[in-house]
Amino acid sequence: MDWGMANRLSQLIQKDGHVLILPVDHGYFQGPTRELEVPRRTIEPLLAYADGLFITRGVLRSSVDPDNSKPVILRVSGGTSMVGSDLANEGITTSLEEAIRLNVAAIGISVFVGSDYEKQSLLNLSLLVNEGERYGIPVMAVTAVGRELEKRDARYLALASRIAAELGARVVKTYWCEEFETVATGGPVPVIMAGGPKVDTEREMFDFVYDGMQRGAIGVNLGRNVWQNPHPVPAIKALRAIIHNGATPEEAEALFNSEKNGG
Ligand code: 5RP
Repeated sequence: MDWGMANRLSQLIQKDGHVLILPVDHGYFQGPTRELEVPRRTIEPLLAYADGLFITRGVLRSSVDPDNSKPVILRVSGGTSMVGSDLANEGITTSLEEAIRLNVAAIGISVFVGSDYEKQSLLNLSLLVNEGERYGIPVMAVTAVGRELEKRDARYLALASRIAAELGARVVKTYWCEEFETVATGGPVPVIMAGGPKVDTEREMFDFVYDGMQRGAIGVNLGRNVWQNPHPVPAIKALRAIIHNGATPEEAEALFNSEKNGG
């Protein structure tokens, strides 16, 4: 692997091989998502505890200070919205030149395997990999399901993740599911877990994150379950304990409660 590519990946994936990414890219198709209406207000208190941000150029420029940032995975796919006809009909929104200008550690794109736009999104991924490899910029593929949340089982996610890795993604972000080892070990590149819809309790989040880490994930990319929690800083600190310190769900919950009550 070339120095630039290795250096960028090492900015994200920490020395222990694990990573905690904070995604704040939701507005690119959801508009002003709850608790992300003013992105700076959401991002600033959490920044210290994240290893990287998953973010669009618009929110990066407007809401993150360049002298107080974390490595950036730039969201470069989009062009659809919650009120449009098909979320899978994405294109590439942001050039590699822009990614280089913003000094990003990686770029991220969604792929929609099994959708009407499967081929388009997979060819977009391939195009980005061709360009990214030329400049030493890793591509993270997001196995998106649009509104078809029932797709999130091991068989589908392993298929989608493997295809993304075969096309050259350096990292795959996918959903946690039962038998997650099928997904995590079904391809040649590291797998990060996305959050999906908000869970009802913190404990549910700690349980699935811990399970996924035990089964081979290298980390998380959790958004709403962190910043829509009434106590986002305790939530991210507890997640960090699972990702980087090997805490169990019980220990993470105890840490969350103690932080929530003032440390
Ligand atoms: C949106 C994304 C998000 O980054 C991803 O869904 C993770 O966020 P959350 O934990 O809120 O689901 O890719 O397209």
